[in-house]
Amino acid sequence: MPKIILVTGGAGHVGSHIIEQLIQKNPEDKIISLDNYFNGTKENHITGAEYRQGNTKDIDKLIPETPDIVFHLGEYARIAPSFDDVNQVFEMNTVGTFAVVEFCRQRKVGKLVYAASSTKFATDGQERHTNPYSFTKANNVDLINNYGKWYNLPYAICYFYNAFGPREKGIGNYATLVAKFEQEYLNNQPLTIVKPGTQKRNFTYVGDLARGIILTAQKGNGDGYTLGNKKEYSIIEIAQAFGGPIEFKDSYPGRIESGKAPDKARKELGWETTIDVIDYIKDFIKIHPHNK
Ligand SMILES: NC(=O)c1ccc[n+]([C@@H]2O[C@H](COP(=O)([O-])OP(=O)(O)OC[C@H]3O[C@@H](n4cnc5c(N)ncnc54)[C@H](O)[C@@H]3O)[C@@H](O)[C@H]2O)c1
Repeated sequence: MPKIILVTGGAGHVGSHIIEQLIQKNPEDKIISLDNYFNGTKENHITGAEYRQGNTKDIDKLIPETPDIVFHLGEYARIAPSFDDVNQVFEMNTVGTFAVVEFCRQRKVGKLVYAASSTKFATDGQERHTNPYSFTKANNVDLINNYGKWYNLPYAICYFYNAFGPREKGIGNYATLVAKFEQEYLNNQPLTIVKPGTQKRNFTYVGDLARGIILTAQKGNGDGYTLGNKKEYSIIEIAQAFGGPIEFKDSYPGRIESGKAPDKARKELGWETTIDVIDYIKDFIKIHPHNK
C-alpha cells in the first residue's frame, strides 16, 4: 500500500535529502512537504514530491490528509542568530511544533519522527539554557516524550549533529560552516573562524542523516537516536583542510560537545556514517583547485 508521508521543512537542507531518498525508495508513496520558506528554497525541490507553502502552526488546515509518517524538521534551525530572531524562534519552534504534535495526536498519525538537536547533550546537558534555539529544541523533545506518555503517541526522536553536504547554504545569516568555508575558498577570501576555533564538532554527511532518520522512522521507537559522525574535528582543523588562510572573529562560540549522548541508532539500527568531512573537503578542492 502506498504511504502518505509528510516532511515539514522539506525545502530545507536535510529535509530535501529525506525527500530525495524517500522517493528513490518508494516512488509510489505520496510525499508532501510543508515549508514556510523562511530558510528553504525552491532550488531544493525534488521532482515527484508535492510542495505546500505555509507555517506548521496552520498544519491542520494545510494538510487535510492523514499521513502515515510525519518527519518534523520545519523549525528555525540555527544557534547564533537565534538571539536576534527570538520571536521567530518561538513562533516557528514552540507554537509551530505544538500544532504538529497535536495534529499527530488528533489525526492518529502512524509515527511522528522529530529532528532534535544534539545540543541537548552538550555542555553537560546545560546547553539548552544558553540560547533560544537549543532551548526550544530541548523543550520540544520533552513535549514529544510527554505526549508519548500522556497519549501513547507513536514517535521516535533523532538528534542531528552538524550537517554538511550538497545543497548546504554558504551565504547569508543562516549559512553553515562547511559551505561558508567553500564560498570563502572559492572567493579567495580568508576563512573566518569564531574564536577560539578549538571548539570541536561531529560534522555529519547530510545523506547519512537522511538515511538515519528514515531508518528510525521504519524501525525506531521513542527517544535516543543520535545521528553523528564518531570523529570530531575542531573548526581550525576544518579550515586547515581547505588550506587556510584563517581570520578569527568574535561571536557566539557555542557548546562543548559531550560524550554522554545515547546511541540507539548504532546499537539498535546498525546505522553508521559513510563520508567523513575531511575527505569531502579534499574532493571539493580537487574539483575546484586554486590557481595560485
Ligand atoms: N543542520 C544541522 O546541523 C542540524 C543539527 C541539529 C538539528 N537540526 C534540525 O534539523 C532540522 C532541519 O535542519 P536544516 O539544517 O535542514 O535547516 P533548514 O533551515 O535548511 O531547514 C528547515 C526548513 O524548515 C522551514 N521552516 C522553519 N520553520 C518552519 C515552520 N514553522 N513551518 C514551516 N516550515 C518551517 C525552513 O524554511 C527550512 O526550509 C531542523 O529542525 C533543525 O533544528 C539540524
